[in-house]
Amino acid sequence: MTYVVVENCIKCKYMDCVEVCPVDCFYEGANMLVIHPDECIDCGVCEPECPAEAIKPDTERGLSTWLTLNSEYSKVWPNITSKHEPPSDAKEFDGKPNKFADFFSSEPGQGD
Ligand code: SF4
Ligand code: F3S
Repeated sequence: MTYVVVENCIKCKYMDCVEVCPVDCFYEGANMLVIHPDECIDCGVCEPECPAEAIKPDTERGLSTWLTLNSEYSKVWPNITSKHEPPSDAKEFDGKPNKFADFFSSEPGQGD
């Protein structure tokens, strides 16, 4: 089992999650983060920290696409362990539909 970052992180990218992870298993893309499934110890402390409710346990139904995406990109994006400035328009994107199709970027973020 692991926790998974899902669609609503895209363009919100608040990064509160990285501050609480005891094993530093978040990785940064240009406009979202992912969790490395093999490094996550399933502690669950990040889930309530996300203002966008974009972190879910993989025991929830319908998350297989997101689990695959977290697994793939955590291998190639840089590690992030401290919060940076979130996007200034993060609030506008909270809850928007079709964020993956419209805004997902495979480009890496800056990392730490
Ligand atoms: Fe880190 Fe725990 Fe969240 Fe896994 S569940 S990403 S170990 S804070
Ligand atoms: Fe994304 Fe939420 Fe973390 S919006 S960056 S999963 S705090």
